[in-house]
Amino acid sequence: MIRQAIIPLAGLGTRLLPITSVFPKELLPINGKPGIEYILDECIDAGIKEVVFIISKKKELIKKYFYNDKLFKKIIKKKKDIRLKHEYQKIKKYKKMIKFVYQNAPKGTGDAVLKTKSIIKDKFFLMLLPDDLIIKRNCSKDMISLFKKKKCSVMASMRVNRKTVNRWGIYSKKSSINKNNFYIKDVIEKPSIKSAPSNNAVIGRYILSKKIFSKLNKLKKGKSGEIHITDAIRKLINEGDIFIGHIFKGKYLDCGTMSGYIKSSQEISKI
Ligand code: G1P
Repeated sequence: MIRQAIIPLAGLGTRLLPITSVFPKELLPINGKPGIEYILDECIDAGIKEVVFIISKKKELIKKYFYNDKLFKKIIKKKKDIRLKHEYQKIKKYKKMIKFVYQNAPKGTGDAVLKTKSIIKDKFFLMLLPDDLIIKRNCSKDMISLFKKKKCSVMASMRVNRKTVNRWGIYSKKSSINKNNFYIKDVIEKPSIKSAPSNNAVIGRYILSKKIFSKLNKLKKGKSGEIHITDAIRKLINEGDIFIGHIFKGKYLDCGTMSGYIKSSQEISKI
């Protein structure tokens, strides 16, 4: 069973400056709804029962968003606003399932994952990177059903333009399960075009085993001085752990850049 999901939210969002100098990118509305709610809805629909938010002191607005009960109660009582009542019900539902942990220094995704070590209960858990929206199909749900069959780690993936491989984690295949699922031989974080083993990129959905924590514990800083989840995954694969690359069926929207963020609202408004 995959019951818990973790979401790293402590990133600085430099690609979305200047707005992110005062406001967390995950609360920016995408077609009228904060980006983080799309991620939470994907989790709920995939059967996740608890979501761990890894935030920082600088991003406490995210927590605040879910803890405004007094204000909602007051306005709903006064105005009998049906829309607000509905929104408040939704936020209360989210709040019930969210736990917060802190990563106050931006030391990378690997370091963020390590902060959840004492909270993860089961052998496997889900991680979603909030910059990566996948619409039209629940990628987490598809990955969880694959996990139920194969009982191993899974990473979402898509084929990218060779010119852009240095933006992603890139993996090489060991063998194919079928057209859209592969056993992974190796994975490397943001390789140069020359050294990239393929154009299969890792996208921000991962089913990881608890074993990842022991690898992260010992990991040294990697590219750009951060601790990368990809490097810990690589260590597990080298020790014989099985990872599947799953080419997802939905549409990918990159909300971590301004052009991607603008495009996301346009695409979602068409659905
Ligand atoms: C992270 C991962 C990378 C992955 C990407 C997907 O990179 O480190 O392996 O391909 O997410 O969006 P980041 O976006 O944090 O640079």
